[in-house]
Amino acid sequence: MQNNITLLNLESLTKYLYPESKQFILQILDSTDSTNSFLINLLKNKQISDSTDFIYVVAAELQTKGRGRNGHSWRSGFGESLTFSLSWRFKKYPASQLSSLSLIIGIAIIRVLRHFSIEGVSLKWPNDVLVNRSKIAGVLIELRSGIRNSYQTVIGIGINFNLSENTRNCIDCNVTDLFEVTGKLLDRNLILSALLVEIKKTISHFEMFGFSYFKNEWISYHAFEGKHVCLNMPNNQIVQGIVDGVNDNGAICLLTDSGRKMFDVGEISLRDIN
Ligand code: BTN
Repeated sequence: MQNNITLLNLESLTKYLYPESKQFILQILDSTDSTNSFLINLLKNKQISDSTDFIYVVAAELQTKGRGRNGHSWRSGFGESLTFSLSWRFKKYPASQLSSLSLIIGIAIIRVLRHFSIEGVSLKWPNDVLVNRSKIAGVLIELRSGIRNSYQTVIGIGINFNLSENTRNCIDCNVTDLFEVTGKLLDRNLILSALLVEIKKTISHFEMFGFSYFKNEWISYHAFEGKHVCLNMPNNQIVQGIVDGVNDNGAICLLTDSGRKMFDVGEISLRDIN
């Protein structure tokens, strides 16, 4: 781990976001429990409006209780990652379609990392971002129903930049970070601004065209396409099968002994074939 990090700062972010900076309201915190929880509380307490005119973004150098999917925690030390959340209100969009939102956020992250010449990035259903099978980024989306059938979402993203040994020891899966992958300390302000612009563009297309517009691109990024996997369901049932794409709602399709089946929950892992 290298120590000379550039801290997140509004001046650089605003400069990099130009000319789109006016569409974002940005807040940078030294420390908070979780940027998702922080933003959800602002919305609940009406400290920010849930209008569609602006996108609120909260980024933190340190999360003391960072949250991951399925009750996992998300760990990182001060400045070691890019951890941020943004709000997006969907107007008249069926909640059933929103399960695929997390997949298109994965696409936005991959596009940005590739733009910065980061090689070997792929996705693991539904939205883990991997480099050479080690996790580099994750997405946690939380949903609240709002006024007139609209849905307010809080989209939280964590990307590992430069994890300390101490942090790595607390994480119970294979992880990597951008320093390990590139040998460089990338400017988190630059990457955050590129992500915000790409996420805004990607969600706007998703609202117009739905997930089917992205389906083939998503499959092309999937590290486990055509692989024999185990799917661990929330009820601890394990399903085995060969990955055969995703459907128009972002559910994963598995070729199992009892036919082709779709699943919209669970965690996949490669099956050990002895
Ligand atoms: C996962 O892979 O399990 C999802 C990880 C999501 C982590 C991000 S960091 C910013 C935001 N705030 C949180 O508490 N979690 C998300």
